[in-house]
Amino acid sequence: MDYTTAIDKLRKEKNAIILAHYYQIPEIQDIADYIGDSLGLAQKAAETDADLIVFAGVHFMAETAKILNPNKKVLLPDLEAGCSLAASCPPNDFKKFSKKYPDHIVLSYINCTAGIKELSDVIVTSGNAVQIVESFPKDQKIIFAPDKNLGGYINNLTGRDMLLWDGTCEVHDLLTTEAIIQLKIENPDAKLVAHPECDGPVLELADMVGSTTAMLKYTQNNSSKKFIVASETGILHQMQKNSPKKVFMVVPKDETCNCNDCPYMKMNTMEKLYKCLLDETPEINLPIEVIQRAKKPINKMLNISRKMGLI
Ligand code: 13P
Ligand code: SF4
Repeated sequence: MDYTTAIDKLRKEKNAIILAHYYQIPEIQDIADYIGDSLGLAQKAAETDADLIVFAGVHFMAETAKILNPNKKVLLPDLEAGCSLAASCPPNDFKKFSKKYPDHIVLSYINCTAGIKELSDVIVTSGNAVQIVESFPKDQKIIFAPDKNLGGYINNLTGRDMLLWDGTCEVHDLLTTEAIIQLKIENPDAKLVAHPECDGPVLELADMVGSTTAMLKYTQNNSSKKFIVASETGILHQMQKNSPKKVFMVVPKDETCNCNDCPYMKMNTMEKLYKCLLDETPEINLPIEVIQRAKKPINKMLNISRKMGLI
């Protein structure tokens, strides 16, 4: 079956938009109406006039799109496409934790469930987290959830002392300095770009730390011809497309392959995308009260980002 043609036909018939994250398989990235990082995807979801939103990403991303579009149908090709970072922060446990610090505001990384978003004051992404933290006075007490690596990175960069929830991304946190140093020895002329979900020692080695979009732009604009990428394998597709003459190597997760795939992102396939557009299922549904509460910190993030010229 020619899924590309079939998906394209259905998308037009149904006035659907396909939003895809950079970690999706190349075929899905190539057919998407928009590919981006979490910030770009949230912005696109907030602005779309499509009747149907198909999210080729993971559950928290599709939930964010639903929160921003409560009256639209939002589909996720595989409802099992979760996220270890989101799963590391159960709302009941987080509620108990944050209650102990009533003088702190809660900043949550967008990689969290709607249950955490509704308990948050502002949402951040890897594309705006540093700037949003810096928009608060230096003495503002802050709880940062759920990624302790991103939170630790911001603390180091800004000299803050945010309280960190102990969550990690199983894909980025497992990358080691040993694997990177090995690649650096073999490729001394390569620059290292890293996603801030990586562990602190990995980030210290990096020439550049940033969101998927920021890493992509850096590899396009930097004069180096070789890049070691401490992130998920999917991002290499756009890097290679945008800079065909440059060489990209992902930091391997172990000795078994030269790859580092997110098992959740890779649950989406062209077949599942086609079936989901055809049957208009699986659909993301959330109680309206959750939507109303979770929308406020997401909109705050979008407003701050607009004011700062980040989107
Ligand atoms: P960004 O694309 O927003 O940098 O986030 C990466 C990520 O963790 C998606 O899972
Ligand atoms: Fe979650 Fe990590 Fe996968 Fe992103 S790469 S969806 S943070 S598990």
